[in-house]
Amino acid sequence: MKLIYEKSQAGRRASAIPRHDGLPAANVPDELKREVPPRLPEVPEFELMRHFTELSTRNFGVDTGFYPLGSCTMKYNPRVNERLAALPGFAALHPLQEESGAQGALELMWRLQEILMEVTGLDAVSLQPAAGSQGELTGLMLFRAYFEAKGEAEQRRKVVVPDTAHGTNPASVTMTGFEMTKVKTDARGNIDVEDLRAKVDENTAGLMLTNPSTLGLFDENIEEIERIFHGAGALMYYDGANLNAVCGISRPGDMGFDVVHINLHKTFSQPHGGGGPGGGTIAVRDILEPFLPVPAVIRKEDGSFGLDFDRPQTIGKVRAFTGPFGVFVRSYAFLRMYGDRLREMSEAAVLNANYVLARLKDSYDLEFDRLCMHEFVLSARTMKKEHGCTALDVAKRLMDYNFHPPTIYFPLIVPEALMIEPTESETKETLDSFCEAMLAIAREAAEEPELLHEAPHHRPVKRLDEVRAAKQLVVKYRFGEHPDAGGDSTPVAAEAPKGA
Ligand SMILES: Cc1ncc(COP(=O)(O)O)c(C=O)c1O
Repeated sequence: MKLIYEKSQAGRRASAIPRHDGLPAANVPDELKREVPPRLPEVPEFELMRHFTELSTRNFGVDTGFYPLGSCTMKYNPRVNERLAALPGFAALHPLQEESGAQGALELMWRLQEILMEVTGLDAVSLQPAAGSQGELTGLMLFRAYFEAKGEAEQRRKVVVPDTAHGTNPASVTMTGFEMTKVKTDARGNIDVEDLRAKVDENTAGLMLTNPSTLGLFDENIEEIERIFHGAGALMYYDGANLNAVCGISRPGDMGFDVVHINLHKTFSQPHGGGGPGGGTIAVRDILEPFLPVPAVIRKEDGSFGLDFDRPQTIGKVRAFTGPFGVFVRSYAFLRMYGDRLREMSEAAVLNANYVLARLKDSYDLEFDRLCMHEFVLSARTMKKEHGCTALDVAKRLMDYNFHPPTIYFPLIVPEALMIEPTESETKETLDSFCEAMLAIAREAAEEPELLHEAPHHRPVKRLDEVRAAKQLVVKYRFGEHPDAGGDSTPVAAEAPKGA
């Protein structure tokens, strides 16, 4: 497909608004005036529309098809969320609007906090963090503030993280200045409790655990794990990226966790991916409330809503103003639509995952053969050994069947991992078509492996050099070389970062 610059012809215009010579000339200071006008593509309006409409169809989204990207919970985003987020009273509200002029927005945040306390079984909430990873960082900052207040910060330096953890967990541990202690997974896919027991002592600040884990398995020893950590005076952090499996069924607070982050943009629907927008709300036990970020969104004695900055032990701010407000509106709308039936969301997500797992498990390897939660991890290990086809090949071939690939090569402890999360959104017909495609690919691997090696065959972009594509981004077009200037129109690669 040609670039818009390559379609440009001198003198073509998108629209021809009549000149109005009566208007006063704009008063632009000389130093801001350009000597050479910007070189913009010159195309008629319909060509512009066609160009960008075609581009938009080349992207895969949850609106165009099934998106079983494990760990990311790519559920359908109800349109009512967008309508509500676009209401002028929300969308055009200035973040510095005085409280009396923002009562509706403050009330929405307060109500969202109340619902999230109920969902997590905890006592206080801060909506500020903008992503799960920032929720992790904030949660660990709360660990530190808590131990500082107890005079134990120097002593408690270790945070325990299982080997199935998402990469952001060790990153958050390191960024907050803690030391990471890795703990193994046992043969059933739980944390290895004996390994854990040997690693937790008076120097431990806490645990970071995703439950259900990134293997899609609920830890069967969670009560014992809680006794080990709280018995040692340490805290428990719940990575809530997988909360979609347990809403209305079990609560991190009841499992003993002291801090939880919730990926609003996964569990409670939001268009997300590519780094944003997101919401990484944290919920905490009462012992950690004094340290939460400011301002806190509160309901006052007279029933009005406001912001409270008067928290002497706060860790400070972690995000501008009160956080990513548009994300709150969407999550609130989603939660209110389910109301007290939220449990049905998680039950449907778990049912869908187990249905797909049951259909696929004889054709792929399954490391931990247990009832899964909202997602599960298969492996292409035998396929690789016997036919030379890898998890990457399977993922690429799925695109030819019009499905977004699952997450691959994660979690790291499963070789040739294919991590599949159907979510609750999908119909049985869609799940069946996906299963048929996965089964067909397993057959193709045995009969015609080169079909997989060279996939995708029916996509605008074929097999990419994944490393180069990530490290040598083509991010600019050299204007002087577009066809009008008589030059070569090849886009130029940005300089690769040093050491790439
Ligand atoms: C298990 C787990 N933890 C943490 C995160 C980080 O969340 P975010 O992408 O919102 O920073 C993710 C994101 O994919 C995740 O899957």
